[in-house]
Amino acid sequence: MVILIGPSGAGKTTFAARNFAPTEVLSSDAMRALVADDPNDQSATDAAFELLHAALGLRLARGRLTVVDATNVDAWARSALLAVARRHDRPSAAIVFDLPVGLCLGRNAERADRRVPAAAVRRQHAKMRGSLASLAKEGIGSIAVLSTPDAVDSLHVDRRRA
Ligand code: CTP
Ligand code: MG
Repeated sequence: MVILIGPSGAGKTTFAARNFAPTEVLSSDAMRALVADDPNDQSATDAAFELLHAALGLRLARGRLTVVDATNVDAWARSALLAVARRHDRPSAAIVFDLPVGLCLGRNAERADRRVPAAAVRRQHAKMRGSLASLAKEGIGSIAVLSTPDAVDSLHVDRRRA
């Protein structure tokens, strides 16, 4: 299981599309769309994550590499994902998009598809930064922290079991 961590506009979905097959990526937006026909419908968030956790478990049971594309900036959200991986005895990794808040805000403002309020991006960014110190204690197998766009672009994804 690979958990992407980062605020809206950090480039998680773009990264996932470049490095993984579409069927390997479970995104909270896609799950919202699946249950509510609208990836922005925040009222569908609980149902979306129920579906995401179920799909994650079914994939991990089969040993399929699975990327979780959501902000994952809250420890409780990561803890729920790690519980699923543990239940299926699968290794986990996290990729943290520790990019400047200004970059995330700028990309978010220029988006054509979906725009998140700037205050939400700032909040998510602060939570991501606040997570960094304790992330290593959460039980994630390996953690990559990417602090520049170049680091994101040049990350080599090694798919072998850790
Ligand atoms: N983007 C970019 N260059 C990159 C990565 C992303 O210009 N190297 C742009 C994307 O084209 C998009 C915006 O930045 O318009 C946000 O990228 P996205 O991958 O959608 O960010 P996410 O982290 O997935 O944001 P969210 O949590 O809102 O889904
Ligand atoms: Mg996204």
